[in-house]
Amino acid sequence: MKSTLKKIALITGASRGLGKDMAIKLAQRGNDIIITYNTKEADAQEVVAAIQKSGHKAAALQLNTADVTSFHDFSTTLQKTLKEKFESERFDFLVNNAGFGTSIPSFEATTVNQFDELLNVHFKGVFFLTQKLLPLVNNGGSIVNLSTGLTRFTFAGSGAYACMKSAIETLTLYLAKELGSRYIRANVVAPGAIATDFNDGIFRQNVQIREYIQSITALGRTGHADDIGGVVAFLCSEDSKWVTAQRIEASGGMYL
Ligand SMILES: NC(=O)c1ccc[n+]([C@@H]2O[C@H](COP(=O)([O-])OP(=O)(O)OC[C@H]3O[C@@H](n4cnc5c(N)ncnc54)[C@H](OP(=O)(O)O)[C@@H]3O)[C@@H](O)[C@H]2O)c1
Repeated sequence: MKSTLKKIALITGASRGLGKDMAIKLAQRGNDIIITYNTKEADAQEVVAAIQKSGHKAAALQLNTADVTSFHDFSTTLQKTLKEKFESERFDFLVNNAGFGTSIPSFEATTVNQFDELLNVHFKGVFFLTQKLLPLVNNGGSIVNLSTGLTRFTFAGSGAYACMKSAIETLTLYLAKELGSRYIRANVVAPGAIATDFNDGIFRQNVQIREYIQSITALGRTGHADDIGGVVAFLCSEDSKWVTAQRIEASGGMYL
């Protein structure tokens, strides 16, 4: 049995970047937090320590979302963590954020290997992780899937990545429809170019690309991680209780 009225959010890929900001914003709004990391355990533990310091419960679990065969064991570990650290059998908010970017020059240059790596993390992993964890999500909960502005506009070479994210947008519609009877909402947040480690930090480090993004963005700059976490926190709050099956683009108005 849960001992408090606090809700619990699980955010994948929250050792850094957008996921880290989501975890912090969700904690600031009063939620307890479970994050996952793939390779950066120390970074993940720093996020946990910061959240605990602010007075909320937090834990970090290892998860490679490309490996669907690991999801059963992950679910078992998660249930143990929920019970032992959060005095709960379920959680409330699932944020499918984990992901990576890769520079591919064009459609013609895209290899099968690159396609499969993108598929495994950005589509197959999200599909089957959500399926596996659904019995642990409380009725009345919320699912937020991360997409990209690239499903609305195009950038040469991003086709394979954008197709996986388009699939996630379609999946979100189906989740919203099929989970409505449990009052679980499902929405998409689609960021524009955000200066994180994503794609080798290209939006943070490459001056030419930053200037280009500035020139095609209504609000005139590249995004920061803290432009996104609050949108996710909103979608995991009572304030969005009548919002489901929606795609919210947070790009500062790219390519209007
Ligand atoms: N940044 C952008 O411009 C942008 C734009 C649109 C959409 N997005 C989307 O936003 C999400 C977060 O991106 P970000 O900018 O925060 O990227 P980031 O700074 O590179 O962080 C990526 C996070 O995902 C985790 N991760 C990567 N591969 C993983 C795997 N195979 N299994 C589990 N976790 C994995 C990383 O874990 P470790 O650190 O432990 O390895 C890290 O926590 C992604 O879905 C991305 O597609 C980003």
